[in-house]
Amino acid sequence: MVQRYVMSIDQGTTSTRCILFDAQGRLVSVVQREHQQHFPRPGWVEHDASEIWRNLGRIVPQALAQAGASAQQVVGLGIANQRETTVLWDRHTGAPVSRAVVWQDTRTDALTEQLARTPGAERVRHLSGLPLATYFSAPKIRWLLDRTPGLRERAERGDVLFGTMESWLIWNLTGGPDGGVHVTDVTNASRTMLMNLRTLSWDDELLAFFDVPRRMLPEIRSSTEVYGTTTTVVPGIRIAAALGDQQAALFGQTCFAPGEAKCTYGTGSFLLLNTGGTPAHSTHGLLTTVGFKIGGEPAVYALEGSIAVTGSLVQWFRDGLELIGSAPEIETLARTVEDNGGCYIVPAFSGLFAPHWHSEARGVIAGLTSYITKGHLARAVLEATGWQTREVVDAMNADSGLRLSTLKVDGGMTADNLLMQFVADVLDVPVVRPMVAETVSLGAAYAAGLSVGYWPDLEGLRRNWHRAAQWLPSMDPARRESEYAHWQHAVELTFGWTR
Ligand code: G3P
Repeated sequence: MVQRYVMSIDQGTTSTRCILFDAQGRLVSVVQREHQQHFPRPGWVEHDASEIWRNLGRIVPQALAQAGASAQQVVGLGIANQRETTVLWDRHTGAPVSRAVVWQDTRTDALTEQLARTPGAERVRHLSGLPLATYFSAPKIRWLLDRTPGLRERAERGDVLFGTMESWLIWNLTGGPDGGVHVTDVTNASRTMLMNLRTLSWDDELLAFFDVPRRMLPEIRSSTEVYGTTTTVVPGIRIAAALGDQQAALFGQTCFAPGEAKCTYGTGSFLLLNTGGTPAHSTHGLLTTVGFKIGGEPAVYALEGSIAVTGSLVQWFRDGLELIGSAPEIETLARTVEDNGGCYIVPAFSGLFAPHWHSEARGVIAGLTSYITKGHLARAVLEATGWQTREVVDAMNADSGLRLSTLKVDGGMTADNLLMQFVADVLDVPVVRPMVAETVSLGAAYAAGLSVGYWPDLEGLRRNWHRAAQWLPSMDPARRESEYAHWQHAVELTFGWTR
């Protein structure tokens, strides 16, 4: 019998990955390619969308070749992607009008402050579920339209299109200038700040507030449906699902029921709690967002605690400070000392996201004495991820009125045992990791497989979830709370910083 597979593409902040999964949810082949990070000015972060598209053109055939499979054996393709990152391109040539403005980019901090003082600002959160911050797409689109001569006119004429990465890739995969399909899925649309969270369509009030022409926007679709069939790269594959990467991880962790939560530790870290069929309003600094929408079924919503900098702090420790040669070495270095020596690092490189939403905050290293060694700094780097998780879990508990009882984790940083133990310690709950740690890719594959009937239902997917590791809390409560107070003090120091 001919084997059939689901293909998933995870277009992330640092790399793009193509994975083939079989019916048991097992990895059959994996190919990954990094793309360049551009930092043209302090606070600016850009990607070349053409480079990302070229990378996709290489990894898809390689993943098929690695599995010895043909396009005909692929039942469907699911795409997960870094969210919010903004690509504008010319509909006729397919060329991006500029580099993509990445979610971490803070160039719009003055613009968002100005918008916050504009009449109507108080409606943005109610309509979109999101606080006015540099993180989301709308201010980025506005900035590009304002600063690029002639661009607004071209956008109004329908000559320039906007998309987040899944939209850009689907358009190119379905023919680009020759009939490409211009769509986005509802989870990605919920991060633009232009979609009404209740109607799930572009909102006239938000479009007017941000002054974004409707003609440049993609059509909003569900997360699991066939958007089209590939005509480029490897023709003949149905594109059957798309989700923002964090929502894909929620799906891959099978958090299908209200009350189920996961945290993905990547470049940043994102804790999502499934809240069911109605959007839950946050009063503690969390985002209200769409978790997923399966075909014609009603949308499922989530509360999200977004942390901008976690894995990227380790990257900075490696590439900026050059204190380690590779990311995994941070654990070894941190283990050379007993504790953080009184040192705390708050990585407000992109301002502070949840629960603070301070776009102007900048990072601090607090508690320095001559006692501090690079081992202590390594500990403080890892602990920053633990304390930031604690902040969003506290907010989640306060918003939901419940107490998180266990945390499902995934992503690259979960390979770090010291860190995962620290997360369990500071949250005071067990932390569990599933067998397949590639949960973003798996979630996109699950969604595509469901969409084309490769998997019959959600219950079948649940049976594929197996625990691979667990960390139990063991920190003395008095120590936990005193260190948390130090952390909170260090966080306050980031607010006072002015350039
Ligand atoms: O919202 C940003 C998020 O989607 C980025 O995820 O894994 O690419 O860092 P990641």
